[in-house]
Amino acid sequence: PSITFIHPDGRAQQIEASVGESAMQAATRKDINGILAECGGNAMCATCHVYVEEDWLARLPAMGGDEDALLDGAAAERRINSRLSCQIKLAADLDGLVLSLPDRQL
Ligand code: FES
Repeated sequence: PSITFIHPDGRAQQIEASVGESAMQAATRKDINGILAECGGNAMCATCHVYVEEDWLARLPAMGGDEDALLDGAAAERRINSRLSCQIKLAADLDGLVLSLPDRQL
């Protein structure tokens, strides 16, 4: 699936991801600035925080309790569409997903 990341300055970066990897893994593999992923995808750091474009929100895998708790401690403001990108597993039907990057992860 192809995923678009929107930087805080409005710049859009589209990448090709693989089915089965997480949005965080795809982003770090393609050197998207703004995803730190310090814990390596274990839902322990909240430095892979993203804002999901509203249309996509309901189509993502449900949020787990760990993710919910961690988002409360994210560096940037938590919004209704906040998710941890390491918990967004990519499937073919997520082609076109748009994720915005917060202004900071630490
Ligand atoms: Fe650490 Fe997602 S990479 S919580």
